[in-house]
Amino acid sequence: MKNKIAIAIDGPAAAGKSTVAKLVAEQMGYIYVDTGAMYRAITYVTIKNNISPDNSSAILNELKKSDITLTKEFDVFINGENVTDEIRSNEVTQLVSKIASIPEVRKEMVQRQQQLVRNRGIVMDGRDIGTHVIPDAEVKIFLIASVDERAIRRHSENKNKGIPSDVEKLKIEIAQRDKQDMERVTSPLKKAEDAIEIDTTQLSIKDVVNQIIKIVEQEV
Ligand code: DC
Repeated sequence: MKNKIAIAIDGPAAAGKSTVAKLVAEQMGYIYVDTGAMYRAITYVTIKNNISPDNSSAILNELKKSDITLTKEFDVFINGENVTDEIRSNEVTQLVSKIASIPEVRKEMVQRQQQLVRNRGIVMDGRDIGTHVIPDAEVKIFLIASVDERAIRRHSENKNKGIPSDVEKLKIEIAQRDKQDMERVTSPLKKAEDAIEIDTTQLSIKDVVNQIIKIVEQEV
């Protein structure tokens, strides 16, 4: 029987992490955990409850009361409410990096994420998975792509979903989010020393998935 391992996929916003991670999980028969969705869910609650983004203790309080569930069908629930679409809104996207920079929020999220890793057989994507959440992951991937390419990809995703979208605005937003994620004090976006970097700018999704599966096959 093959070993079940943990696969960490990190990288900047809109680098294709979730698309690739889902496909790798499917091929391996592993569970997939989108940690960005967890930060988005608490951001959604912050907005919904009119909590100031600067009020860290109120946000943490809310998080402690919140049950965040990610289903096999990739739906996201917070306290039983299906927020799969709501967490992708522009309002949430613009605020999430700020909420994700609150150290206490990160501590709580990392604990929850680490519970999920116990039995291995998992693909987890985010910003700090290889560096903090699963520092002993058997496979660590760091996906990058140019800002222009990432904005174009996000733009077509938005159009397909019927979300209003402007590619030039997306370039600015993506660059801002990268900056915020890389400059925060607590577990910033950073390539783990032992992660394998894949630049996806010129690659198809299939190429990226195949490259990762090849790396995984050497570990199982
Ligand atoms: O992957 P995403 O765009 O859905 O992530 C949303 C935000 O959450 C992103 O701006 C940074 C933050 N995030 C994080 O700080 N750590 C993670 N492990 C995952 C996401």
